[in-house]
Amino acid sequence: MNNFDFYSPTEFVFGRDTQKKTGKLISNLGAKNILLVYGGHSAEKSGLIDEIKNSLTEEGISFHILKGIKPNPTDDRVYEGIDIAKKNAVDFILAVGGGSVIDTAKAIAMGAVTDIDFWKFYIREAVPESALPIGVVLTIPAAGSEGSAATVITKIDGLRKISYSTNLIRPKFAILNPLLTITLPWFQTACGIVDMLCHIFERYFSNTPAPLVNSYSEAIMTSIIDRAMTLRINPEDYDARADIMWAGTLAHNGLCGVGKEEDWATHRIEHEVSAFYDVTHGAGLACIAPAWMTFVAKRNPDMLWRFSIDVMGVNPEGLSTEEIIEKGINALKEFYHGLGLTTSLRELVGKEPDIDGMVKSLEKNMGSTLGAYVPLSMEDCKEIYRLAL
Ligand code: NZQ
Ligand code: ZN
Repeated sequence: MNNFDFYSPTEFVFGRDTQKKTGKLISNLGAKNILLVYGGHSAEKSGLIDEIKNSLTEEGISFHILKGIKPNPTDDRVYEGIDIAKKNAVDFILAVGGGSVIDTAKAIAMGAVTDIDFWKFYIREAVPESALPIGVVLTIPAAGSEGSAATVITKIDGLRKISYSTNLIRPKFAILNPLLTITLPWFQTACGIVDMLCHIFERYFSNTPAPLVNSYSEAIMTSIIDRAMTLRINPEDYDARADIMWAGTLAHNGLCGVGKEEDWATHRIEHEVSAFYDVTHGAGLACIAPAWMTFVAKRNPDMLWRFSIDVMGVNPEGLSTEEIIEKGINALKEFYHGLGLTTSLRELVGKEPDIDGMVKSLEKNMGSTLGAYVPLSMEDCKEIYRLAL
């Protein structure tokens, strides 16, 4: 295991009715004038936004609103939010929603306290020195942004979808009420499950020896798969919703990566797909992750072998390493199909994907090599897109 610094300062407030504590949690942090950020219609329709507003009013907190944040969030809304935050001298940002809303809030938090264009942080031309504090009321377990240091924004000009990480933007608190996720369309629940699993893959597939971390990562992955099947049959099962929601946070708050060299090639490769075709991130990962596994297994089979047996439940008796891994990857694909998702990129985007264009953009955004478990050249990435077709 490598040396590590595990920093997860977020206060997680979990369970039924916890959204009612929003005002109090903000008030405890000394904030009085906030920016409330949320998405399309779901949170208004469910009555959640009214509940949040009441909770703020009860604590004497005034609020300004930025709403209508769309999936695969874009820079234009970030600039709008920065403008509102600066003009009104807001002292806190509250994100009510999923990864897209939270990531927008994080970008605004960095941009609102400086004259530097926030996009310069994403393209590594500047480093933020501070950020406004952020709180979250999570409505979809998926991106893990409620406990992560990351934010992913797409610049409309050039369709560049880039992530940026800094501990400055880890939320101060995150409210996780599994009942708020019951209104999710099944497709979004399924995509969230794929995403959280992949957040563990990015850390699990590593060359660093870390038996303890590997064991609890496997436990979280098998639980996600098991609870996903329960939810598929009964989407209203509270305990399954609760496990999936907490798993989404554990998958991405850093716990599964401590002391290990992480990979992240699958995510980088997928981000081009969701930037180019505006598809849901998890749906893109369902195509890319099995293709990545198939590609890297030839060069570095060890962790794929272990994953196939310990997570996907392949019986190794009488099988060669290649056969075990092939069965493991097929079992993963079947799991995704069982969730109602495709593993074919062509089917997902509804046409022949522009592989050359995505590889070009990937190189521009991320440089000429990706990943650590198996370092990938741009030719390798091209092959992974082909394997995902
Ligand atoms: O806008 P509304 O109407 O709320 O609809 C949303 C949206 O259409 C809907 N939704 C959310 N909660 C709901 C609900 N519908 C009904 N009931 C509810 N309770 O779900 C849709 C998807 O929302 P979104 O926020 O986009 O989902 P997700 O959490 O999957 O976030 C995806 C974004 O996060 C980025 C992805 O690339 C993508 O841009 N990621 C961010 C990461 C991070 N910051 O650490 C890591 C991830 O790997 C990921 O890249
Ligand atoms: Zn992800």
